[in-house]
Amino acid sequence: MTAQAILAIDQGTSGTKAIVVDPDDGVVAVAEEPVQPVYLPGGGVEQDPDELLSSVLAAGRRAVAAAGRPVAAVSLANQGETVLAWDRRNGRPLSRAIVWQDRRAEGLVAELASSGGWVTERTGLVLDPYFSAPKMAWLRRNVTTEGVVTTTDSWLVHHLCGEFVTDVSTASRSLLAGLDSGAWDPELCALFGWQHEPLPRIVACDEVVGSTTAFGTEVPVAGLVVDQQAALLAEGCVEPGAAKCTFGTGAFLLANTGTTAVRSGSGLTSSVAWRARGQLTYCLDGQVYTAASAVRWLQDLGLIGGPEDLDRLAADDAGGVLCVPALAGLAAPWWRSDATAVLSGMTLATRPGHLILAVLQGIAAQVAELAALVDDETGEPLSRLRVDGGLTRCRTLMQSVADVLQLPLDVYPSPHATALGAATLARLALTPRLGVADAITAWEPTHSFEPRWSADQAWDFRGRWRSAVTIALGSETRR
Ligand code: G3P
Repeated sequence: MTAQAILAIDQGTSGTKAIVVDPDDGVVAVAEEPVQPVYLPGGGVEQDPDELLSSVLAAGRRAVAAAGRPVAAVSLANQGETVLAWDRRNGRPLSRAIVWQDRRAEGLVAELASSGGWVTERTGLVLDPYFSAPKMAWLRRNVTTEGVVTTTDSWLVHHLCGEFVTDVSTASRSLLAGLDSGAWDPELCALFGWQHEPLPRIVACDEVVGSTTAFGTEVPVAGLVVDQQAALLAEGCVEPGAAKCTFGTGAFLLANTGTTAVRSGSGLTSSVAWRARGQLTYCLDGQVYTAASAVRWLQDLGLIGGPEDLDRLAADDAGGVLCVPALAGLAAPWWRSDATAVLSGMTLATRPGHLILAVLQGIAAQVAELAALVDDETGEPLSRLRVDGGLTRCRTLMQSVADVLQLPLDVYPSPHATALGAATLARLALTPRLGVADAITAWEPTHSFEPRWSADQAWDFRGRWRSAVTIALGSETRR
């Protein structure tokens, strides 16, 4: 039997998922391993690199065993901007993984602030601690001068096949790569003190980068990509203007802009969606740093037992409570890593259910701000929004998003969009004559959510919510 199935691994912030997907039978096996970010005072968010690696190996091996069939390739989606120092001679980590949510490079970014304009023009990004390079420079300054510092994908791929690579979508999240060229940029490297640092070779997303025996017989490693971009591809957003929002640890709204690398005038960021078939495709993106993280925070406060309680415990209306869930700062379009969360409008009548709904509506409001900016930038208002990720199971959140956006939502039918996108890229790598659009599996939404609020209600809510944002931005509280 010729192996056709792909082992696709989604190494995310809160866990690692491995699926085996077969062109005829679909997803035939799934295995998941949790990983635990550690939240530190001062805005630090770290992971144990060994936990990331062992989760990739364990989830991958379990999925292959459960599939009971050979796989033809291994693909990997990564967190995008999470970095670590490691020793290329033996693959040992030399630091903790510094997670994309980590804000400790704020000071370093402030030192470079006068370069913000040309950095944005060159990279499509914003000079902010969210992206890889500030965290890489912070690691060099504060943790170790040894080894190499890269995003986690390079380290994981090194363990799988010994290569020193990153893919072009991940490189485009670093602030070290030119958006138009998709290549490392010497002036950007110099800005971050990286001119003498070894950088991984940038590969295409549909490229075979090596081979691995980590999951059984030797197979190619192919299909490297950022997790958000992988979901964009899986959801079939291959034409300019098509957009999706993934509700994971954070919520990430991405809109395909085709072969045009848009320079946002409104604070969105622009990145490489993928390089496939020799062609760079771009996307505009906006970020809500805390979605499942905000739900986890509600759980840590004891207001819910877990995400499965949200629909049962959220009140029917928020009773005047408003929340800006800026628990890890605010990204697009505000770019204020020092912003803190706001809960306002509480009285003695406020109950936990009001707070729960207010947090969900706060996430929805942030997504609505991003969608409005995408409309402005592309000049073509979104008519529907595709959504995926674990929090799409929360009907209250999805309804809130539809209400505040005043747009219908289509829920992707599989909980594995990210892994399926990575698998699609691996399949492209293995099948030279297959086109990108032809590699995507057609889908129908499991649910669609239509707006129930009137346009006036949405307008009123968004106005009040924006007032709460000014409090979040004006807060002098520092983590
Ligand atoms: O930019 C970070 C993002 O890509 C992480 O995604 O799924 O781990 O929340 P996730």
